Amino acid sequence: MTGGAARDREIVLETERLLLRQWQVGEATILRELWAERDPRVPPHRRIDADGRPTVEDLQESIRSRDAMSFGLLAVARKDAGDLIGYCGLVDNGRAGTGEPALAFELLRRVWSQGYATEAAMAVCDAARSAGHERLWATVWEWNTASRRVLAKIGFTETERREVDAVHGTTLFATRLL
Ligand SMILES: CC(C)(COP(=O)(O)OP(=O)(O)OC[C@H]1O[C@@H](n2cnc3c(N)ncnc32)[C@H](O)[C@@H]1OP(=O)(O)O)[C@@H](O)C(=O)NCCC(=O)NCCS
Repeated sequence: MTGGAARDREIVLETERLLLRQWQVGEATILRELWAERDPRVPPHRRIDADGRPTVEDLQESIRSRDAMSFGLLAVARKDAGDLIGYCGLVDNGRAGTGEPALAFELLRRVWSQGYATEAAMAVCDAARSAGHERLWATVWEWNTASRRVLAKIGFTETERREVDAVHGTTLFATRLL
């Protein structure tokens, strides 16, 4: 991690191999690819439906309408190749009910297992601390071994709290003091 910067009031985080920054509308195809690649165990409202929605246009609109100044989910770009590989950032954590944000990340399958999620998530945790947050949460499916491993590597601890869903699996709640 080489530091974070507010460039033109936009959040830009830089690590050894990655740049994390706001999404551009023209990059919605990458978001669509992430949606299309999702594990079949992910609930239907977070997967492409039978009508092909969300479409690239739907996702363009969601990028357009997002508050450009919010921390949100940042696009993750590789510095050497210059390509986008997914997102990482903070989201509202209504499920934990503590008012503290949650960490979220998702990367394209073709770049998995190269340490990118860990590198990006560490940068987001550092930036969250700098922004004054004292604790972060993350929710993760019990079956999601890779995500649980990333969370453990960056210092999250799984709590006793869990939500059992007979269809999609159990959601675990993990947390980290910053
Ligand atoms: C979770 C995710 C972001 C991880 O991205 P990544 O760049 O591959 O993560 P990293 O390479 O930093 O670390 C992955 C770790 O999980 C381990 N791992 C991956 N798949 C695994 C598996 N099936 N079983 C056990 N460990 C596994 C890797 O070995 C690595 O651990 P290590 O460094 O100790 O060897 C990626 O798998 C993804 O996008 N998944 C779908 C979306 C998702 O689940 N998001 C999180 C929702 S909570």
